[in-house]
Amino acid sequence: MNNKYELIYEGKAKKVFTHDDSDKVIIEFKDDATAFNALKKAKFEGKGRLNCQISARIFELLIKKNIPTHFIKLKNENTMIAQKIKVIPLEIVLRNTAYGSLCKQTNIKPGTVLEKPLIDIYLKNDALNDPLITKDRIQLMNILSAKDLDYVINLTLKINKILKSFFRNIQLNLVDFKLEFGYDLKNNILLGDEISPDNCRLWDLDQKNDMIVSLDKDRFRNDLGGFIEAYSEINRRINNFI
Ligand code: TMP
Ligand code: ASP
Repeated sequence: MNNKYELIYEGKAKKVFTHDDSDKVIIEFKDDATAFNALKKAKFEGKGRLNCQISARIFELLIKKNIPTHFIKLKNENTMIAQKIKVIPLEIVLRNTAYGSLCKQTNIKPGTVLEKPLIDIYLKNDALNDPLITKDRIQLMNILSAKDLDYVINLTLKINKILKSFFRNIQLNLVDFKLEFGYDLKNNILLGDEISPDNCRLWDLDQKNDMIVSLDKDRFRNDLGGFIEAYSEINRRINNFI
């Protein structure tokens, strides 16, 4: 990154830099992959570029459908320009199909299609290992007002409808995903972070048998191999469709 831009924040998968305009930031997508709160770490050449390109296409799709997001435009292969936001320290997970932690913490069988989308909210705090949090605790901690929490939940449900149908068109089952939101300088709530195979579970529908074929970060989490191939396949399908 051009050194006239200052690093504001470095996360596990992205770096955030200042921009010439004080209300904007530059986000650089890294090649690092982490899982289980960074207990597991690796680098995959090309991951940053793929997640940046995939996220950009998906943000563009959501913006067309009137979802407020932080995305402004791509800057280059692995960087984008976004609105500066104050990130709300919550991870909003929506599940259409039971998998992952839901099946570890309950007796619901992996692969069970849920009657209606389930929203699970986690406190974004690595030191506490991102615990599942209740609406009352969110209020208690003054993280969000009841009104803003309802707004974020309704926006997540709306985003699910758009993404589910989009991914179905490219033969992918959107099993679950995690979103993050933030306040811009005018106090509007915007969808932030990224939307990529890092934070969405995507299963291939182009399958002749009932086997689960994950085209997402579960390839890394569960040592399935073919990580970059899976991310490239998602990118290829999106570009062929749009
Ligand atoms: P989980 O089943 O492990 O709770 O994950 C649910 C979804 O959230 C899945 O699509 C992966 C995503 N996720 C993240 O993006 N970041 C995280 O730190 C975790 C734990 C999950
Ligand atoms: N994002 C988390 C980590 O970096 C966990 C995950 O995605 O599984 O460790």
